[in-house]
Amino acid sequence: MAKQAVKQNMRLVIVIAAVASTGGLLFGFDTGVISGALPFLKASWNLSSGQQEWITTAALVGAVLGALSSGRITDIFGRKKVILVTAVIFAIGSVLTGASPTPTFLAISRIVLGIAIGISSFTVPLYISEISPTKIRGALVSSFQLMITIGILVSYFSDLAFADEANPFSWRWMFYVGVFPAIILFVGMLFLPETPRFLIGKGKVEKGRKILSMVEDPALVEVAVAKIQEDIRKDKLAATDWTEIFKPWLRKALIIAIGIMFVQQFVGINTIIYYAPTVFIIAGFVGAKAAIAATVSVGVVNVLSTILSMFLIDKLGRRKLYFIGLTGMAVALTALGTFFLLKDSLGPALKYITVGSILVYVFFFAISLGPLGWLIISEIFPLKVRGLGMSIGSLSNWLFNAIVTFTFLKLAWAFTGPGMEILNEGALKPDPNPAGAFFVYAAIAVIGIIWGIKYIPETKGKTLEQIEEHWRAGKMPREL
Ligand code: BGC
Repeated sequence: MAKQAVKQNMRLVIVIAAVASTGGLLFGFDTGVISGALPFLKASWNLSSGQQEWITTAALVGAVLGALSSGRITDIFGRKKVILVTAVIFAIGSVLTGASPTPTFLAISRIVLGIAIGISSFTVPLYISEISPTKIRGALVSSFQLMITIGILVSYFSDLAFADEANPFSWRWMFYVGVFPAIILFVGMLFLPETPRFLIGKGKVEKGRKILSMVEDPALVEVAVAKIQEDIRKDKLAATDWTEIFKPWLRKALIIAIGIMFVQQFVGINTIIYYAPTVFIIAGFVGAKAAIAATVSVGVVNVLSTILSMFLIDKLGRRKLYFIGLTGMAVALTALGTFFLLKDSLGPALKYITVGSILVYVFFFAISLGPLGWLIISEIFPLKVRGLGMSIGSLSNWLFNAIVTFTFLKLAWAFTGPGMEILNEGALKPDPNPAGAFFVYAAIAVIGIIWGIKYIPETKGKTLEQIEEHWRAGKMPREL
């Protein structure tokens, strides 16, 4: 009988995670969609490298704004309401970007869309981590990462489906498609509960307990309620506010949150996610459609490796995966840089080697830093500052992402100068050679390894409460 109840609870938890993760899907879709649209936007409006960087980065600027406000608003209005509003912004943003009459209008619409991305990148993992039972928290939070990668893959497929070399404006439909997952998220979320942690925090203990008993191991429900209540009582006694997060006992958690996002972004993942077709064209693919088709393979490896990481994350643990992933990325990036340096002597072989090295690189990212960044920021902060802590983590993520995205082509020009892009008609046009940029990201992967030895905590199998006690005792992250 008890077993039956546990099984049913599991089912509910999975439904909750699946619907909430549609937020991740939208996040992935709306960030990935630009990759295939870029070559067409370039053609339809004759955009410079700088303008392409602006349009790509605009969504990230919005995401920074969204991430900035999300900590406070989820603490005031609750996780559920915020996710609902986000879905509406996603829908509006998709229509606006698709209908854009000018590059400036497109950049501004992408800022609007970015706001929804920024809010969801923080609220959805928060929602999932607060509503999942301890035992499978890792796997559930990384289901968010899986949805991001599926969203990216869907965007690559739809870019490929709509890519029409005869129509430079085929990017419009690439953007419109984003309306559909927004509707799914909105409708699904209407049927899901608010998190117990938020409710109990607002004094709705009975409601909180009821939801907790629907999802948590029955033996742990009362312990969890008591712990949450105790935390809230302590909070009130100490009359703490958001400045708590900057106090010395939480400093290490803060450094970890910002540090892991720095490493996640500065290894250059989004120069591949957003610019893969552009890079493939530089490597020798002729035409946007062929380059977008090659990009689909990047999306597939990203999804499959993320699925693999969900099995590994609670088995191998966070630290091992972190080091394995970064080592693989450092090697793949160094290889990529070298191949692009040898561009002229490699000739037509370059495009195949580039695809191969990028797939290896994406594999190592997706089994490690991809899910780990978001998981770790959801695990290391105590309840009273969890909202704020995660929002600082995702804010850093977006800021670093924006910097990398806005500087990729510039970095490529600065370090290695021009390569040649072969245009459709066979004509040559100067384009940056990304070799130097890849070497910079490889160096950052090595720095990430050194930093991680001291700072990456092993949170596997620990309750959120145990982690809090660890910080209170003033211990180092690696001792966890
Ligand atoms: C990162 C994104 C990236 C994605 C790729 C996420 O964890 O935060 O910036 O685009 O992984 O799968």
